[in-house]
Amino acid sequence: MGINKVMVIGAGQMGSGIAQVFAQAHYNVVLNDLDVEFVQKGMGHISKNLNRQVEKGRMTKEEADVILNRLTPSTQLEDASDVDLVVEAIVENLEVKSKLFSKLDEIVPEHTILATNTSSLPITEIAAVTKRPEKVIGMHFMNPVPVMKLVEIIRGLATTDEVYNSIEQATKSMNKVPVEVNDFPGFVSNRVLMPMINEAIFTVYEGVATPEAVDEVMKLGMNHPMGPLTLADFIGLDTCLYIMETLHVGFGDDKYRPCPLLRKYVKAGWLGKKTGKGFYEYS
Ligand code: CAA
Ligand code: NAD
Repeated sequence: MGINKVMVIGAGQMGSGIAQVFAQAHYNVVLNDLDVEFVQKGMGHISKNLNRQVEKGRMTKEEADVILNRLTPSTQLEDASDVDLVVEAIVENLEVKSKLFSKLDEIVPEHTILATNTSSLPITEIAAVTKRPEKVIGMHFMNPVPVMKLVEIIRGLATTDEVYNSIEQATKSMNKVPVEVNDFPGFVSNRVLMPMINEAIFTVYEGVATPEAVDEVMKLGMNHPMGPLTLADFIGLDTCLYIMETLHVGFGDDKYRPCPLLRKYVKAGWLGKKTGKGFYEYS
């Protein structure tokens, strides 16, 4: 069965980007969040991104409007009753995601694939709360979604080849590059990236250098497009902490212990760019 209609759940920075790239690739998209205000914020981001493309002469205003018209805002999970694919992009918490997947399993048609954009959590465990583990899969987009080429695709233990192939094809149809990885904490992307970010936070915590100095070293010395602390603020410090906790618990290895300074910032509500303050301040 082909994929025509997609629901994206969570209209935050990832969900809004995912909804945008699906709509650009001609899919009909329902963008769902808990509250109308959150959905409107996500729709606003998409509209702003498309307007930028119009201003740069890369698409016409009419083309941007057609893409926007493929998007339907939603605050009811029941709107998933006729979709072919769900991509979940809510908070990085196994309990919250599992509850959602269990509810979705009762709402969506039998053929529907349930994908999660989780950064690190076990696909097999999320799949196990549903009666369709063979149709549950990880579809891990990178931030900012409209720009980044990679989608990490992660099979759960029961995911079928047919489901994997559908998701691979959908990824390619959005002009993105799928890379298949196995279901282990943090997959490949965050197993490699997040310990580097955590170590950069330790260097600030231990007084080795300021955030600015750490970022400058990694940008000018290693040619990273963003320093690790700017990147942490960009990803969201809450998400960084949840990923480190998943690595720490999942591997039972203290080399993944989250830096106390990261915990402190998250407890203070300093979540990075999205709250206006993290390692840096944002207006
Ligand atoms: N949304 C949409 N488009 C964006 C954007 C955003 N948030 N930010 C930048 N862009 C676009 C710009 O419009 C511009 O487009 P054009 O080239 O078409 O004009 C392009 O990106 C480049 O932007 P800028 O020139 O303003 O800035 P830049 O050259 O510094 O690039 C960047 C910005 C692409 C974000 C770059 O800094 C970068 O690659 N940073 C690292 C990003 C990264 O590592 N992402 C992975 C995070 S980890 C993850 O996602 C996984 C996880 O689970 C946590
Ligand atoms: P975010 O905080 O920007 O957005 C999360 C959105 O989900 C919010 O709008 C929130 O209202 C909504 N939400 C929470 N619970 C919900 C529910 N039960 N039903 C509907 N909506 C709900 O977070 P984000 O950065 O977009 O991250 C979302 C997911 O994507 C996480 O699993 C994260 O690990 C993953 N991810 C994040 C990044 C990144 O760089 N931030 C990159 C790749 C993957």
